[in-house]
Amino acid sequence: MSGTGPAPRRRAIRGRLLDFPPEGGHRLRADHLVLVEDGRIARLGPAAELLPTLPPDTPVDAHGDRLVLPGLIDAHIHFPQSQVIASPAEDLLDWLERHTFPAERAFGDPAHAARMASFFLDELLRQGTTTAVVYGSVHAASIEAVLTEARVRRLRLLAGKVMMDRGPEGLRDTVEEGVRESAELIARWHGVDRLGYVISPRFALTSSEAQLAAAGELLAAHPSCWLQTHLAESPGEIEAVRARFPWAPHYTAVYDRFGLLGPRTLLGHCVHLREEEQARLAETGSVAVLCPTSNLFLGSGLVDLGALADRRRPVRLALGTDVGGGSSWSMLRTAATLCDVARLLGRGWSPVDAFRLMTIDNAAALGLADRIGRLEPGFEADLVVLDPAATPAMAHRLERAHGLEDELAVLLRLGDDRAVRCVYVLGEPVAGADLSVRR
Ligand code: GUN
Ligand code: ZN
Repeated sequence: MSGTGPAPRRRAIRGRLLDFPPEGGHRLRADHLVLVEDGRIARLGPAAELLPTLPPDTPVDAHGDRLVLPGLIDAHIHFPQSQVIASPAEDLLDWLERHTFPAERAFGDPAHAARMASFFLDELLRQGTTTAVVYGSVHAASIEAVLTEARVRRLRLLAGKVMMDRGPEGLRDTVEEGVRESAELIARWHGVDRLGYVISPRFALTSSEAQLAAAGELLAAHPSCWLQTHLAESPGEIEAVRARFPWAPHYTAVYDRFGLLGPRTLLGHCVHLREEEQARLAETGSVAVLCPTSNLFLGSGLVDLGALADRRRPVRLALGTDVGGGSSWSMLRTAATLCDVARLLGRGWSPVDAFRLMTIDNAAALGLADRIGRLEPGFEADLVVLDPAATPAMAHRLERAHGLEDELAVLLRLGDDRAVRCVYVLGEPVAGADLSVRR
């Protein structure tokens, strides 16, 4: 009975297509079209060839010379911290106590959480971020709020409530509550539309050994879920972990002991890891999620991307903003900061590497490289249109640009939300400076 169903929802997006094939390098296709049908990329090709073949009435969004990329992916961000960003403190532990825990207490209120969820997802999209891996507060209500809103917007979002039975007064669960609430959220949300659940023991200092063990058991029982936590972020934190877990030869061993490492595990920061810890991450396929603006803002340290990626035992890498420890919502600003830190440590890291990390590498780190992060038929049509000449200074600098690498350097070094002209979720325009003028 082919041909009798409703016509697919179509849109064509025209511009300079840029993505980063798994085999390396970049792929730039000038004046091409992406034809989206029912949220997925159906066809790609030169505009001159594809335009005459489009079904009548297909809307065509013409972006001229602007770059059309896969939507950016943020692999580490805290939903309850949108009003914590830019709150100064002595260090990580002081910042948690003074600013973060007080702000997170309010997320047990569903009305507050719903209002914050709306802002949070608006802001992610405004920045060109179409997929994020999200920490909630200890309250299941925080995850209900953010996933409810993400579902309405048809986003691909991964999130989990933090488990923290050793947390501060008023912000604790118990081992039993942490497991029950996480399991209920998994049952309600994991795999619904494009949503996924991330088991989220906050970090070693806020969980008992019993809770860390319970998190490991939960992951074993739900192997298609992800697990996220924080690892070796700041010197003060590492010292406290040493005192709390005297049996552990190092911080990584604490998580290892309770079955928390593996290819679905996302470990935020990984700033201060010994060689044997890095080797163990590589061996287990665990992902180090780098959060460089946060590390600078909180004075946590300089993450050595080159050491982590050492060819002899490469650790899988991803990149996240870590808002509100991170000082920018922009993945462009975050990747630029990683470039700076790499340079400080004597490592080369190019703008092409940066864009690769924000798109296909982050997708691969989440095990989603067959669905997002590339411009290929069959992939989900989450796209961002970037303007390398978005500001007067960028346009001025581009007068002397030498090729794509230079353009990407300008976007990375001078770009932010102002460079985000249009954001598509499943082929529908949802954010960006062009939205008001386009329709
Ligand atoms: N370690 C434990 N909790 C947090 C958090 O909320 N932010 C950061 N940056 N590190 C943490
Ligand atoms: Zn974090």
